[in-house]
Amino acid sequence: ADVSPARQRLLDWYDRNARVLPWREGPGAALKADPYRVWMSEVMLQQTTVSHATPYFEKFTALWPNVSALAAAPDERVMAEWAGLGYYSRARNLLKCARAVVSEHGGVFPADEAALLKLPGFGPYTAAAVMAFAFGKAANVVDGNIERVMSRLYAVKTPVPQARPLLRELAARWVREDRARDWPQALMDLSASVCRPKSPSCLICPLREDCDAFAEGQPEAYPLKAAK
Ligand code: ADE
Repeated sequence: ADVSPARQRLLDWYDRNARVLPWREGPGAALKADPYRVWMSEVMLQQTTVSHATPYFEKFTALWPNVSALAAAPDERVMAEWAGLGYYSRARNLLKCARAVVSEHGGVFPADEAALLKLPGFGPYTAAAVMAFAFGKAANVVDGNIERVMSRLYAVKTPVPQARPLLRELAARWVREDRARDWPQALMDLSASVCRPKSPSCLICPLREDCDAFAEGQPEAYPLKAAK
């Protein structure tokens, strides 16, 4: 099926409803899509909510406005400022990665997915997110929230986690060079405010008419969970 009309409906919705977040490129604020800021936000947002991570993002980028500044920071200071975010391996990798970007890439994040994947703490999700959000490249950004949206759109009958490869493949069908930066963020905003895990707001959803789970009448049953 041609996803273009539905894709356009979600992008139009995003143009009206995008959350204002400090790491996003805003009108006339190209600096905000700096790869350093995108990377920092994505590391913080792993296992942490937007509202909890945002003040830490503001503090870190004020203390260390670029990757060279962070790379030069004392380990103990970075670990101390991280307190409250949890999962301290993320902070250790943050520093390791900043130092690798300085020593191996002259302080400039590479605009190359394979090169990003070699950096400490980078996995497929982070690499795709930096490619899309910072460099505006078509990349298949898939997190648990985007998996939920896909599982509903296609009423995927395989439970998670087994369905993960299929959900990735379904998400890839929607990726285009056009608006490559906005597309995954449109899905993330939809998943946060409309296509929520519980009580999704299907009546205001721009993808309602495209959604197999809505047609079936049980959208919150998705993603199906494997029986324990
Ligand atoms: N969660 C992870 N990355 C995000 C982003 N760029 N915008 C909103 N929520 C996110």
